Amino acid sequence: MFVDRVLSGMRPTGNLHLGHYHGVLKNWLALQQRYECLFFVADWHALTTHYDSPGMIEQHSWEMVIDWLAAGVDPDQATLFIQSKVPAHAELYLLLSMITPLGWLERVPTYKDQQEKLSEKDLGTYGFLGYPLLQSADILIYRANLVPVGEDQAPHLEFTREISRRFNHIFGKEPDFEARVEQAIKKMGSKHGKRYGELRSRYLEQGDENALVEARSLLLEQQNLNAEDRERLSGYLEGRSKVILPEPQTLLTQASRMPGLDGQKMSKSYGNTIGLREDADSIAKKIRTMPTDPARIRRSDPGNPEKCPVWQFHQLYSSADTRNWVQQGCTSAGIGCLECKQPIVQAILDEQAPILERARMYEDDPAQVRKIVTEGCEKANQLAEETMRDVRTALGLAYP
Ligand code: TRP
Ligand code: SF4
Repeated sequence: MFVDRVLSGMRPTGNLHLGHYHGVLKNWLALQQRYECLFFVADWHALTTHYDSPGMIEQHSWEMVIDWLAAGVDPDQATLFIQSKVPAHAELYLLLSMITPLGWLERVPTYKDQQEKLSEKDLGTYGFLGYPLLQSADILIYRANLVPVGEDQAPHLEFTREISRRFNHIFGKEPDFEARVEQAIKKMGSKHGKRYGELRSRYLEQGDENALVEARSLLLEQQNLNAEDRERLSGYLEGRSKVILPEPQTLLTQASRMPGLDGQKMSKSYGNTIGLREDADSIAKKIRTMPTDPARIRRSDPGNPEKCPVWQFHQLYSSADTRNWVQQGCTSAGIGCLECKQPIVQAILDEQAPILERARMYEDDPAQVRKIVTEGCEKANQLAEETMRDVRTALGLAYP
């Protein structure tokens, strides 16, 4: 039976913040109930940009797994693993590299964008250029059909689909497919064989659908062809091949956009984050010092919530009653900004309480965390190996 399989990964580049929680993890929590889910620590991907600080990877990886578990990712429902502990990702990456045109990689928009954004780093490396291909291997090796990612990752998904099509087109054939096709064409006799060839070219080169229809009925008329030959010739006709690595679909996330402390999207690179496990005093201080509507210089100046980052937090966290109170109080100067911020502090702390509790449990029992990940890696290795068997066979590498 076919089951939908979801795969997603995150790079272990530091503690997770509320942006990850609202933008990604809450979505994972919903997905794990519905689908077979694989969530992994993309430690090799972290090295493509952080190769100069490898000492942090291990600690960040464990912290991130604890963040996931604390957020409610359930190891009984989802498989959690670490990329570098499933070396077949690297093998598939290598094999895919044989058929990956350089231009495809150079044209992935994140390549130039990130190089410009992280200009203090030298990202003119082979590893960084290969980032999207490694991501393709991550996805294709599990034959995952659904990949939940944010908008920023859409080009990587599109690239993965193109690689899968190219792979299937080149390798999704019997090893001696061309020779068998040739023999089958001979069986048709020279006149029909020649006609078949012409029609095929007209369809494949000019997209002439009538040629396709005519070629199909020509095949049906052939008395000398057995069913297998007919199947080969109709596949050949359409340039079709066997699917070894299915094309994944992007699962568009309806996750909420988490505003940062300054009103921009919450992101580490903007320095506007609140940590998932940040302590209460620090959270309160960050909210208290958040900018507000610049027009409210004095307490007596009325404000406009639309011009205030705090309002974005109310939209995410507050009830309709509280939001009315804000609208009323702000526009009439009836409440002060500190007063207005208080329910936000409380809402974040309330949201955080069960997360902190679970985190504490896992922090106190690192052996348990390791066990979850070890089991996840075993499962992932098994699944990856199933695909790699087919891949090696298709590439003529299945010899002892
Ligand atoms: N590139 C992703 C990110 O930065 C992480 C990632 C690596 C990933 N491999 C993946 C996500 C495979 C989904 C599927 O967020
Ligand atoms: Fe912003 Fe609230 Fe102050 Fe209005 S009262 S400016 S919404 S913090």
